[in-house]
Amino acid sequence: MSGFQAHLPQTTGEAQLRFAGVSKTYSNGVRALRDIDLAIERGEIFGIIGRSGAGKSSLLRTINRLEQPTNGKVLIDGVDIGAYDYDQLVTLRRRIGMIFQHFNLLSAKTVRQNVELPLKVAGVPRQQRRRKAEELLQLVGLADKHDAYPAQLSGGQKQRVGIARALVHDPDILLCDEATSALDPETTQSILALLREINRRLNLTIVLITHEMAVIREICDRVVVLEQGEIVEHGQVWRVFGAPAHEVTRTLLAPLQHQLPDDLKTRLRSQRQSPHDHPVLRLHYAGHGAPDLQNLGSALGGRITLLDGDIERIQGRPLGRLLLEVADSPLDPEQLLDNARRLADHVEVIGYAAAA
Ligand SMILES: Nc1ncnc2c1ncn2[C@@H]1O[C@H](COP(=O)(O)OP(=O)(O)OP(=O)(O)O)[C@@H](O)[C@H]1O
Ligand SMILES: [Mg+2]
Repeated sequence: MSGFQAHLPQTTGEAQLRFAGVSKTYSNGVRALRDIDLAIERGEIFGIIGRSGAGKSSLLRTINRLEQPTNGKVLIDGVDIGAYDYDQLVTLRRRIGMIFQHFNLLSAKTVRQNVELPLKVAGVPRQQRRRKAEELLQLVGLADKHDAYPAQLSGGQKQRVGIARALVHDPDILLCDEATSALDPETTQSILALLREINRRLNLTIVLITHEMAVIREICDRVVVLEQGEIVEHGQVWRVFGAPAHEVTRTLLAPLQHQLPDDLKTRLRSQRQSPHDHPVLRLHYAGHGAPDLQNLGSALGGRITLLDGDIERIQGRPLGRLLLEVADSPLDPEQLLDNARRLADHVEVIGYAAAA
């Protein structure tokens, strides 16, 4: 899993995609997007998260004008796509590939025919489209499956066909709406590896929606959090995941949170019942190095037991969490907190452990 994490974005810093005051109200009165301002850079993998109904798909679909904003503009390379006529729109949609949760393959056509279809529609001669399809099937690791039918493929293989089909016009941008949601964890990993590879090899900008926070952690450079059509948080993934600022983000990230070990749960009380109970502190680190243990010891006083902890790396930045039991400290819990806060990004007393 850690294979892609050392990835450094190959972005150029220029905004390829810009949302300027984008709002969308559907004809039934639902306000799906409210005043979205956002820039996505060429070559980045950009994640969109939010609860169901937050407006994620609506936002994504304004990029290829499957949805028209009610207000505001979507600019690609500085050009307002809202002003495009039909022919320009056709060209635009070729520059933007899209893959879906349920693959959207034609069951009566072979793998190669599915991949060739957009080229056929575009009037590309047979030899040329066959060559392109073969090349892309090679890229997605399905060279031996070109004559198979979708029903003969696994979910992961179907999504590979979907990816090959999305790339036939050599797009600049790939939109993924829950592209791994129907896949098991192992297959998800292999599809993410493929997306990462095409992002690098083809310098393709990828904008993806997912409900799986691990997917964002794994491959995205930046992430935006939507809630009721508004941006509530956005930034680099290590920053947002390491120190989520908004309640919605914290809720979304809850599945990634480490659970307390069972033996500790049984020892832990929410209130201090005896002066001999030991405060248990949780310290979080986001982006900085792990704390100096000696400093920590002198800042907290007493005997410190490391009960649990982990350090993971997102985009090469360490995110850590330490669970410490502090016994026989001369400091009261408030002072402990104050001192610990000087050495970590976020600290809380999660309870009191009964003295053994
Ligand atoms: N074509 C439509 N007509 C009317 N309302 C719509 C339409 N599409 C979406 N909506 C509404 O707009 C809001 C945002 O929907 P959207 O599909 O963008 O959410 P989402 O974040 O993608 O949700 P999910 O995670 O469930 O896919 C929802 O309240 C939804 O019911
Ligand atoms: Mg959606």
